[in-house]
Amino acid sequence: MTPVLSATGLFTPAESISNAELVKCFNTWVAGWNARHADAIAAGAVAPLQPSSVEFIEKASGIKSRYVLSKTAILDPEIMAPRIPERPNEEISILAEIAVAAATDALGRAGRTGRDLDAVICACSNLQRPYPAIAIEVQDALGAKGFAFDMNVACSSATFGIQTAADMVRSGSARCVLIVNPEICSGHLNWRDRDSHFIFGDVATAILVEDRAQAKAAHWEILGTRLLTRFSNNIRNNFGFLNRAAPEGIGQPDKLFVQEGRKVFRDVVPMVSDLILGHLADLGISRTSLRRLWLHQANANMNRLIAERVLGREASDDESPTVLDRYANTSSAGSIIAFHLHHEDLAAGDLGLLCSFGAGYSAGSVLLRRKA
Ligand code: COA
Repeated sequence: MTPVLSATGLFTPAESISNAELVKCFNTWVAGWNARHADAIAAGAVAPLQPSSVEFIEKASGIKSRYVLSKTAILDPEIMAPRIPERPNEEISILAEIAVAAATDALGRAGRTGRDLDAVICACSNLQRPYPAIAIEVQDALGAKGFAFDMNVACSSATFGIQTAADMVRSGSARCVLIVNPEICSGHLNWRDRDSHFIFGDVATAILVEDRAQAKAAHWEILGTRLLTRFSNNIRNNFGFLNRAAPEGIGQPDKLFVQEGRKVFRDVVPMVSDLILGHLADLGISRTSLRRLWLHQANANMNRLIAERVLGREASDDESPTVLDRYANTSSAGSIIAFHLHHEDLAAGDLGLLCSFGAGYSAGSVLLRRKA
């Protein structure tokens, strides 16, 4: 059997935070902290905290705004974290709820219902619990048969999910596989870290991979997938169950997202462009025939460099669209949002490349060709 990508879906939270709103809150907190520590600062015992700036954020990242599920608490200088009430077990989990919203969008676009699914994969960075799997809750909510499981490869989770689903269709273990990428990144972001407080947003995406024989006419052929991992400490999050042994550790910054942004930039740009170029060469496809790149959305400068290395020249916005400005980094969902919002205009036969990269390090490349 031959796997194809038949539809994608998107859930976008109703609320968003502009850079100006974010920086105002951050700087209010910084001013308060510096005032509370004025004596120690005057004595030279501690360094004053530095303010953030809208100009820096836009120049360094390309991000102008981000969607979030809990705006009020994030922008409260006394809290600066999402406050999402815990739900009783009888109620659907928030992560499953936003995954179902994106899945319903994808299924509708493919003319399918949950009953057509054989498998559900929840592939994302930020799972809210270890078990029962979020994917099984989504399977249940959609009335799907078959089986479901969660997987986490950080920002590369979606492309790793696509290869897993494609392999399942090829092997015959499933004919119709739903991949959901619900990302509540606001929950693991340190909103008080000047270097990264602007990076992430919340969203959910969904991808339907089916056997070509049963897919709708207008689908995307999956010409090939390639995955890569290489260990690095440069993007890390140490939150976990073993921290329970040292409760004082829970509030430490390394129990949230931390990164060496500059090192990530330097390591990942060549790693990802080499991965893509090697993948294209092995498939016998020239880079000049690529109509569009749907790159992971972490940093606009990084995407510009990767696109340039892949195409051998600067890419236009049309060739490498960005959603970072509105959505910020949404971890595994980023490249799927870019695809979802920027594929309708491509013609039959057009080639496009979906690519993710992030913690691990991990990277994934998926080559697609529009059919019909
Ligand atoms: N506001 C104002 N200035 C700030 C600031 C802020 N919020 N945060 C940092 N700065 C300052 C720093 O103090 C530094 O000042 P100095 O030069 O006087 O020392 C300067 O800006 C440069 O900081 P730096 O962290 O080196 O910026 P950068 O240009 O490397 O951009 C990132 C930072 C994180 C946006 C960028 O490195 C990046 O996106 N890297 C890749 C990250 C990535 O893809 N991660 C994957 C996650 S899935």
